[in-house]
Amino acid sequence: IAGIEVAPSILNADFADLRAEVAKVATADWLHLDIMDGHFVPNLSFGPAVAKALRPYSKLPFEAHLMVTNPEVYIQPFKEAGVARVLVHPEGTLHLHRLVQQIKASGLEAGVALNPATPLSMIDLVLPELSIVLIMTVNPGFGGQSLIRGVLPKIQQLRQRVNADGINCRIGVDGGINQTTAAEVVAAGADFIVAGTYIFRNQEAPAQVIATLKQLGA
Ligand code: DX5
Ligand code: ZN
Repeated sequence: IAGIEVAPSILNADFADLRAEVAKVATADWLHLDIMDGHFVPNLSFGPAVAKALRPYSKLPFEAHLMVTNPEVYIQPFKEAGVARVLVHPEGTLHLHRLVQQIKASGLEAGVALNPATPLSMIDLVLPELSIVLIMTVNPGFGGQSLIRGVLPKIQQLRQRVNADGINCRIGVDGGINQTTAAEVVAAGADFIVAGTYIFRNQEAPAQVIATLKQLGA
């Protein structure tokens, strides 16, 4: 694995002009779609219809970050909407292994996202099946929160495990990324950065912020 991949989250983009917003992040690696159901997290966002509507207007692969209960129900709708990867939370399902198998059997890449208080041991069994583990650096539900620094050792521990076992899996971070915290998470071992407000609510153009983030891996 070489370099840093960047995945802009459109959660804090201009929802009235999403077509133009996704055009601004064409130099990123993935488009990150935050799916919230008002149960797993205390907020509502959007669903597969929005992913499908945006699909023709971006060349980036889409990933759906499912912050929902009963994620099993939404794998097929997001596949049909054209997403390439689905990220699920172990806290949102009773059967993580079965869910990961379901995602992969659908022909999608599988990722797991871990809330700040959830230990890495939750994913011991499924880690070899995943193309990414997303370490949540905020409690999910809202953009624009501050990174929880107590989560940084979890990134280091996962980096050690992934390297020691030769696992081909990205280590992502999601939440509270800015110029300062991006350097900290990369130093801890992250090679995939989700960023929302830093990319879409910055004086710099999104392309400039994306370039800055990618340079951290150079
Ligand atoms: C948090 C979401 C994140 C969030 C990132 O619930 O999963 O993807 O939108 O936003 P920022 O970068 O503003 O913390
Ligand atoms: Zn997210």
